[in-house]
Amino acid sequence: MIFCITIILTFFLAWSSSNAAPLSAQSVTVFSPRITSPKAAILWPRGSIHNVTWDTSNIPREKHGSTGMLMIGHYANNSENLDIDHPLATYFSIDKGWVGVTIPQNLPCRDDYFVVLFGDSGNRSPKFRVCKT
Ligand SMILES: *[C@@H]1O[C@H](CO)[C@@H](O)[C@H](O)[C@H]1NC(C)=O
Ligand SMILES: *[C@@H]1O[C@H](CO)[C@@H](O)[C@H](O)[C@H]1NC(C)=O
Repeated sequence: MIFCITIILTFFLAWSSSNAAPLSAQSVTVFSPRITSPKAAILWPRGSIHNVTWDTSNIPREKHGSTGMLMIGHYANNSENLDIDHPLATYFSIDKGWVGVTIPQNLPCRDDYFVVLFGDSGNRSPKFRVCKT
């Protein structure tokens, strides 16, 4: 189990430090806006309101006007466990560079939540926590 987690974290770090877009079956233009908030290990308590922000400087011309969707997830059982039934935000403009979110009241305590921004490709934030300890 420990071994497994090490592998997953290593993969995560390698993935997020490269600027590579996730593999896609189609070779359409993808871009991966870098998420600039939340920062790693920040505390965003349940019920609190924040802006998730991302870098808009490399959005290709043809992707302007795209709408995005933001989901919360955490690593467990070899999966990202994205809460696809309860997106944090939907139908916002990718061009804006930010979207307001409320951290759900019913989230279990974990220190490895992340958000994934879906536009034309997904991009994942650093991990943050929702409880003080
Ligand atoms: C989010 O950003 C917008 C635009 O900068 C700002 O008006 C708003 O107050 C911010 N919300 C929070 C919760 O910081
Ligand atoms: C991982 O899987 C086990 C067995 O299916 C389940 O009981 C547990 O809740 C899962 N853990 C998380 C964090 O999803």
